[in-house]
Amino acid sequence: MRRPLVAGNWKMNGLGASLAELRALKDRLAQSPVPEADGMVCPPATLLAQARYMLSGSTIILGAQDCHPLPSGAHTGDISAEMLADAGAAAIIVGHSERRSDHGETDALVNAKASAAYRAGLTAIICVGESEQQRRDGSTLEIVRRQLQGSLPQEARAANTVIAYEPVWAIGSGLTPTPADVAEVHGFIRGELGRLLGQAEAGAALRLLYGGSVKPANASELLFVPDVDGALVGGASLKASDFYAILSAYAGRGAG
Ligand code: PGA
Repeated sequence: MRRPLVAGNWKMNGLGASLAELRALKDRLAQSPVPEADGMVCPPATLLAQARYMLSGSTIILGAQDCHPLPSGAHTGDISAEMLADAGAAAIIVGHSERRSDHGETDALVNAKASAAYRAGLTAIICVGESEQQRRDGSTLEIVRRQLQGSLPQEARAANTVIAYEPVWAIGSGLTPTPADVAEVHGFIRGELGRLLGQAEAGAALRLLYGGSVKPANASELLFVPDVDGALVGGASLKASDFYAILSAYAGRGAG
């Protein structure tokens, strides 16, 4: 019942010329669709308007990375959820570990950003995940529990929220947790969501993505773990062929 989602996070990568990759992805999907899963690309904000134009007529969903909690105002350099919606985004990644570490973002701020996404009518993709040290200390579940509790707005529901579990040590490192470790954390998150939202069914309906070094070579191993409903893909989303290869792991199959 949960439709898989593979979302590409371009991070601070992409110039106008990179839209050629988006075109290649669109063409590839037009030739060989993957109706079993949603594909989303989150380019930098500078490319959203052009990407929307490029993607017209395609099934690829457009997303954005980060937003300011307020709708408008004197916040030089910031971009509001409303602006991202206006530029064509349907979703916003919030609470990515790079925002949490580079900009000291707290769970409370992530929560406010997710609420801003809802206010603008967008889906919030809320990221959580433990550091290498926290995994070594055995505190992974405690950290993820605390991040979820702080970052998830009360109004979170399957229709407006996706959770991405991204172990910080797996991001961009080529390292991945074992499928058993992913299953453990995703199962735990599923239970916590039910508790936090006050309804097991609400938790059961939310999509949970795994993120961190997802590549064509490990996609089938990671995407079909129980309670994994897709992936948040960084580096491998920059190349249309790699991103398509990950998305097409779902061709002819359902979610985990
Ligand atoms: P990666 O990044 O796929 O390059 O590891 C994932 C992410 O940060 O979302």
